[in-house]
Amino acid sequence: MRRKYSDIKAKLQIEVKKTTDNELAHLTHYFQNHENGVSKYFQPTAKAYLEELHEELNITQDPEFQYYLPIKWDIPFPPAINPKFKFIDLFAGIGGIRLAFQNLGGKCVFTSEWDTYSKKTYEANFGEVPFGDITKISEKEIPDHDILLGGFPCQPFSIAGVSKKNALGRAHGFLDETQGTLFFDIARIIKHKKPSAFMLENVKNLVSHDKGNTFKVITETLKELGYSIHYQVLDGKYFVPQHRERIIIVGFRNSIFKGKEAFQFPKMGEAKFAIKDILEKNVDKKYTLSDHLWNYLQQYAAKHKAKGNGFGFGLTDLNGISRTLSARYYKDGAEILIPQNGKPPRRLTPRECARLQGFPDTFIIPVSDNQAYKQFGNSVVMPLMQAVGKNIVKELVKLNESKKSQIAVY
Ligand SMILES: C[S@@+](CC[C@H](N)C(=O)[O-])C[C@H]1O[C@@H](n2cnc3c(N)ncnc32)[C@H](O)[C@@H]1O
Repeated sequence: MRRKYSDIKAKLQIEVKKTTDNELAHLTHYFQNHENGVSKYFQPTAKAYLEELHEELNITQDPEFQYYLPIKWDIPFPPAINPKFKFIDLFAGIGGIRLAFQNLGGKCVFTSEWDTYSKKTYEANFGEVPFGDITKISEKEIPDHDILLGGFPCQPFSIAGVSKKNALGRAHGFLDETQGTLFFDIARIIKHKKPSAFMLENVKNLVSHDKGNTFKVITETLKELGYSIHYQVLDGKYFVPQHRERIIIVGFRNSIFKGKEAFQFPKMGEAKFAIKDILEKNVDKKYTLSDHLWNYLQQYAAKHKAKGNGFGFGLTDLNGISRTLSARYYKDGAEILIPQNGKPPRRLTPRECARLQGFPDTFIIPVSDNQAYKQFGNSVVMPLMQAVGKNIVKELVKLNESKKSQIAVY
């Protein structure tokens, strides 16, 4: 008999808290991976932690793992039953990229995210608690996988260490130049695990940051690690009613693909979506701006306009698309405002933000509005990730068909 995840969760009191450390990640990763080749990475800690939990909760009956397995995943996005490929989800946030690659038939075998509230949302939807700070996780603790995924944090960063001039002048050793940055953590994992492919996502400005030097060091590092690189800035507006431009970097391992992959970024169709398509019918009045805030925003915009600055609030044309949803949307919602008859405009609800990023309505939002705004603002246009992912997976599957042993499938 399969036990429901919700029952196990209640019995073991699985809950992400501020104090949650990696033991819960080991346990839930083991639950999701007990039958495949990567279980050994999680089993020892998971087993020890389960014993600890049993003692704490005074569970004396059925104290073995076998009692819990296999699990009936009664969560919105359960793991694939016959996965086509394995992937890891770094800087996972709430799992927008995971959802896209799960939809393509992939199985996530490792995830890392350090924010407590994002972990909460992640667990509620995927039944897995992410590991914490990636800078503290050895690459040796990460299971083998076919595709590495990571939308690393978008604060502009300068490449650390020796001066960039030196770095760019050198034939080798780009990896060293990225020490101390979160990109370095991605690179060290790629170096050790040698996935067949990867997809990295970041803000468009990464390309021009520091006169293009940051981006050059990133692409040179990835090439030096043995990958052929493809990159393009893509706009989410072809999938959702939101203007959201992101740089997507895709790499294929030279020793496997010999640089012959036929990968192309997806061709964009027509941008035919409108904000009115994602609006909820009955919206609580708490989302309407107060007269005070609305007056303030109008005065602030007028002042800046008089000075010739571009700042303004974004009163959205309901037949058009919105500006980019950002993690600061929770502050005043000024970048995307919905006009209303006879009263001040309102901000989007968290569910509307989810839709604006292309998440299905089955996605659970278990956190406060403020946290939800931050989480969706930090996330991705999920269907855009899926469109790019489809073309990556196509290459992996092609390769697997011609050379059955090359990629690690179940
Ligand atoms: C741009 S967001 C990625 C969001 C994700 N793609 C999604 O769909 O929700 C970057 C994430 O990296 C996380 N992060 C930043 N530093 C980290 C670290 N050292 N270890 C793990 N996660 C980290 C942040 O908390 C944030 O959620």
